[in-house]
Amino acid sequence: MAIDVLLGLQWGDEGKGKIVDVLTPHYQVIARFQGGPNAGHSLEFNGSKHVLHTIPSGIFHPTTINIVGNGVVIDPVIFKKETDALVEKGVNVYENLQISKKAHLILPSHRLLDAASEAAKGLSKIGSTLKGIGPTYMDKTGRNGIRVGDILRPDFKERYEFLVKKHLEMLGHYNFEHNLEDLEPAFFEGIEHLRKFTMIDSEHVINAHNKAGRKVLAEGAQGSLLDIDFGSYPFVTSSNTIAAGACTGLGVAPASIGEVYGIFKAYCTRVGSGPFPTELEDETGEEIRRIGREFGATTGRPRRCGWVDLPALRYSIMLNGVTKLIMTKADVLSGFDTIRICTEYQTTDGPTKDLPFDIHPDFVQPIYQEIAGWSEDLTGMRNFDQLPENLKNYVTFLEAELEVPIAIVSVGPDRDQTIVRG
Ligand code: GDP
Ligand code: IMO
Ligand code: MG
Repeated sequence: MAIDVLLGLQWGDEGKGKIVDVLTPHYQVIARFQGGPNAGHSLEFNGSKHVLHTIPSGIFHPTTINIVGNGVVIDPVIFKKETDALVEKGVNVYENLQISKKAHLILPSHRLLDAASEAAKGLSKIGSTLKGIGPTYMDKTGRNGIRVGDILRPDFKERYEFLVKKHLEMLGHYNFEHNLEDLEPAFFEGIEHLRKFTMIDSEHVINAHNKAGRKVLAEGAQGSLLDIDFGSYPFVTSSNTIAAGACTGLGVAPASIGEVYGIFKAYCTRVGSGPFPTELEDETGEEIRRIGREFGATTGRPRRCGWVDLPALRYSIMLNGVTKLIMTKADVLSGFDTIRICTEYQTTDGPTKDLPFDIHPDFVQPIYQEIAGWSEDLTGMRNFDQLPENLKNYVTFLEAELEVPIAIVSVGPDRDQTIVRG
């Protein structure tokens, strides 16, 4: 049995949460492998919307096991809020959710360091979600971090204090005013809450599920263009968001990976700073933001909007070995007379279909092809044959350019608004 992976091919917010929820009935286990509460994964069904930050998007299916893998970073404060809200909605999180002992903890001082680092960068800030992600992964790779399993050790408090001492020195260096004491009670309350959950050696558990023939889906956070190695560095997150991250973030071997679902929007968005070659800083961009309700699920910030970018998508498909594509938010483009598709970039060395080292506007300009748009409301359509001819042409064009089939087309935020092609 293989472990399938679902991940974002753009700069995040492609609709991963919705699609994982849709696919969950085909899996027994859903496992998050990287990132942390910088993620905001939205799901809609029965008229309600839910946003998940740390918890896998299979949690609303009562018979599915959800695992937070070792590659994830957990903020106990946000985790408590998230799980309390789920309990109120009748979700049995104590039964259906398991946490890797090797996942690292986000301390309140990590959040302060994130804010201090961003403030020090001034205009060149990353546009971080300020959830403490970067500093927590820095402590992980610097071999100073504290892991979920450490809360079971008698010297947990001493380990915490030792690390915080270092953070306070760093905050002093930044000359950053803070209120750490005010943040600590909620953190320790979160730690007590965490103790109520099943903490596991997730690499053993996931491999055992796989061996026993139970299907596992690894759920990515962020998107490939935010990957620490291959994204638009330094405007990236601090983890490997690509398929390889599923191997390190869950402890599964490369050969055990099966399908790799790559998800992208019918257009493109980005939140935070950094280059975005196809960005529309005009009325069309505004219109996409308004119709697509493009505001961050975690921070509420307006998302930057632009046309679909094929050099970027080809790059992501290559890095991940995508076997099936999923296109979301096709409904948002209804009503545009023409749809533009960036098929290649113009660079100082001539046109290219590849993603160059630097995609800053000084170095690349998108070259567009146009296709005719469609005006029909797609949100009630449930069958590929019902879709407007021009949208089908768009799908065919993208498949030919990307050389991977589009297996699912999403036409609205609800679970039901999903067209799975036979
Ligand atoms: P994620 O981070 O990849 O899970 O994506 P987000 O949840 O942050 O952002 C995607 C947004 O688009 C959410 O508000 C979803 O409810 C919504 N959404 C997902 N698929 C579709 C779709 O096909 N059409 C429309 N209109 N909205 C969608
Ligand atoms: P989901 O899983 C979109 C962006 C931030 C910022 C950069 C670094 O919902 O797709 P960080 O807090 O990680 O240090 O921020 O990455 N970012 C996301 N953008 N969706 C996300 O997650 C994101 N997580 C981080 O806006 O530009
Ligand atoms: Mg999101």
